[in-house]
Amino acid sequence: MTDSDMPHAARPEAEAVEVSLEFLSRLGQAALDPIIVSDARGCIAYWNDRCTECFGWAREDVLGKRIHDLLIPKRLVPHHLSSFAKSIVIEGPPPKRYVTHALRRDGTEFMVELSIIHMTIGSARFPFCFVRDIDAEKRHEAKLREADDKLAYLARLNAMATMAAALAHEMAQPLGAAQNFLSIALMERDHPAHEALLDCRSALGEAAQSLASIRGLVRKGGAVPDVVALDEVLNDVLRVLSAQSQSHVRFEMGSCAHLVWADRIHVEQVLTNLLRNATEALQSRTDGQVAVTAETQGEQLVVAVDDNGPGIPEERWPTLFEAFRSTKSENMGMGLALSRVLVERCGGRLWIEHKNGSGARFCFTLPRKTIMTAPAGGTS
Ligand SMILES: Nc1ncnc2c1ncn2[C@@H]1O[C@H](COP(=O)(O)OP(=O)(O)OP(=O)(O)O)[C@@H](O)[C@H]1O
Ligand SMILES: [Mg+2]
Repeated sequence: MTDSDMPHAARPEAEAVEVSLEFLSRLGQAALDPIIVSDARGCIAYWNDRCTECFGWAREDVLGKRIHDLLIPKRLVPHHLSSFAKSIVIEGPPPKRYVTHALRRDGTEFMVELSIIHMTIGSARFPFCFVRDIDAEKRHEAKLREADDKLAYLARLNAMATMAAALAHEMAQPLGAAQNFLSIALMERDHPAHEALLDCRSALGEAAQSLASIRGLVRKGGAVPDVVALDEVLNDVLRVLSAQSQSHVRFEMGSCAHLVWADRIHVEQVLTNLLRNATEALQSRTDGQVAVTAETQGEQLVVAVDDNGPGIPEERWPTLFEAFRSTKSENMGMGLALSRVLVERCGGRLWIEHKNGSGARFCFTLPRKTIMTAPAGGTS
């Protein structure tokens, strides 16, 4: 039997290792993915060119260095070391495949999928690690998920708008009829429930106006502005809220005697939403306070609604005005989204602002009624 006829196992160990490493080196240079081979101590013994492209380290920088010193984010090192130690003592551990984070030479992290197999060359164990950079793929997936969420959100919004328009349409007729029946009943001046019927008619009137306002929102074009006295609207809103609210909230009204150009119902709905939110945030307190103030800023009036409740963490601010973001079990999360649309329809803006002390502060602007903006023949 010549030397070349001898089976591998019979060759001297050094020669077997050399042949294996030569074989690996050729294979590794042709591979499309990074391949890292370490020794039983976790020091890098082999590093193909794809590794350099992926991690940024040249071969001479890494050979003999420990994997966890260069390629693994610090927080993952303890876990890596313990699972490496476990796998190296097992005889012939099964191949392992998993997704984790890796570290580039410039310190940036990226996602990789690893496939690890232990090979015995001669009498030594070498864990082989095949690396796949899946960072771009994962980011693409996250973007797709985000787009899916956005689409689902828009679909819900659309369904909501359709439902609101249908409701506004369907309710208009019975509401009108109920108002007419009440008017007939009210002709009888000494009716025993005359006062209650009057209240009933005015409540129905408000409901009909709100529905008309919703229909107006769905129609194209902006709101038709009218001169609105802010303090009058605020008084109406506070009267209704105080009647509804069981809590101990104290409402304060600052200098709100200003005239603005707006749709009265829109302003009423915005104030109602903001004040109701503040009241709901103060439900469990006995010293709850809500203050409404207004100040002029050039052509604009800035209205602020302040409360001394728990406030809203700043990380929630970017999505606060999106629909369906409620933290309340009974609510839909439409108030702020709708309010922003209503204010913008009137030519203003609505935002949340930092405030001194605890609580939330919402502000919105409306165009002031000045001599400049008064329509021809109008009074200022
Ligand atoms: N003044 C406030 N204090 C604390 N949290 C608030 C305040 N205003 C709004 N929020 C938070 O913002 C979320 C969204 O408010 P929004 O008015 O849009 O919806 P909602 O009040 O939950 O439901 P809806 O208004 O449809 O009844 C609330 O669920 C609440 O978590
Ligand atoms: Mg609300």
